[in-house]
Amino acid sequence: MATRTLTPTAALLDRWRRDTPGCSDRIHLNNAGAALMPRPVLDALLRHLEREAAIGGYEAADEAAARVCETYELVARLVGTAARNIALVENATVGFAQALSALDFRAGDRIVTTRADYPSNQLMYLSLARRAGVETVRAEDLPTGGVDPESVRRLARHPRTRLVAVSWVPTNSGLVQDARAVGEVCAELGVPYLLDACQSVGQMAVDVNELRCDYLAATGRKFLRGPRGIGFLYASDRTLERGAFPLFVDMRGAEWTDPDAFRLADGARRFENWEFAYALVLALGEAARYALAVGSAGGERAGALSADLRQRLAALPGVRVLDRGRELCAIVTIDVRGYDAADLKLRLRERGVNTSSSDRDDGVLDMDEKRATTVLRFSPHYYNTEDEIAAAVQTLAELIRP
Ligand SMILES: Cc1ncc(COP(=O)(O)O)c(C=O)c1O
Repeated sequence: MATRTLTPTAALLDRWRRDTPGCSDRIHLNNAGAALMPRPVLDALLRHLEREAAIGGYEAADEAAARVCETYELVARLVGTAARNIALVENATVGFAQALSALDFRAGDRIVTTRADYPSNQLMYLSLARRAGVETVRAEDLPTGGVDPESVRRLARHPRTRLVAVSWVPTNSGLVQDARAVGEVCAELGVPYLLDACQSVGQMAVDVNELRCDYLAATGRKFLRGPRGIGFLYASDRTLERGAFPLFVDMRGAEWTDPDAFRLADGARRFENWEFAYALVLALGEAARYALAVGSAGGERAGALSADLRQRLAALPGVRVLDRGRELCAIVTIDVRGYDAADLKLRLRERGVNTSSSDRDDGVLDMDEKRATTVLRFSPHYYNTEDEIAAAVQTLAELIRP
């Protein structure tokens, strides 16, 4: 029997798909929600849970100590830093909150942010306004979409600016903010820079030194393809040396040395909490290892599939593509005239196509500007195929046929 020879790209795709049990009977275009885990991630998760059941949770953690250490190294390598600069946390939001709480805000202090920052981050800024009188100012967008770094510069020059915070890729559109240009502005002005890279890690190259950020928060389950319920926070050496620590530091982050004194843990560990889901930690390590092995080919392919998807969707009657900005990524968002996106999402799911939907409260400023109240979001990854993209568009076309 003749053996089929695959091109290098087809061979890679074949391998990625064989590693991904979930892609055999669904078209998963919800990687910005939670990607399908590859087999090594799932195996690490299950294996550790089995050890916990067999020998006890604390004992299994001791047994896995070397692999836990390796997880920090793998995650650190993924974002261009050292293990001591990585804190493992429950999710990106916790990482972001821990970093935010390390700043000593006073009434009248300012946070400079964008018009597209993640809703939970915006809520934290508003909470700081209510509790501590901190003011949030939002930089203007460029005419093409995306934050204008010069507007960030003008606002960040204000003497009361304590922080610049940016969601690199927002949740409700394919926009990629110019995180590097904002980092340069912050470095020039000496203002701390907190970057939410939740949708970026696993999708694009991340190098904290190039980004010049002080903190970077991310999650495991999205383009990184890790499990749900774990994320990480990068904290720069500059920040650590300054003695920054989260407001509610716990006994992992510090040692209670005297009745009225404590000593901070070395490195970013001071941003962690004591209790860990070790199965998730080990699975996150495997996700980082997998992402490092896939390398830049993964993000490039996800971007190309998304560009194709965007074009195909734009050609459907009643569909408006909402992604704006000089650089777009593997998140494709549309408004379908006369249809509720949450309802379409469920009907697509019934037909084997996974997508997600966003509402106005996922991005009040952005959604109002686009005059959109409900948005259908497709987010392909490198393990998706061109045929899946065509089939998903065809399925949607059938659902919205006039
Ligand atoms: C841009 C962005 N930032 C932050 C988050 C929050 O991540 P997590 O749910 O892991 O806290 C999300 C989740 O969708 C996101 O899209």
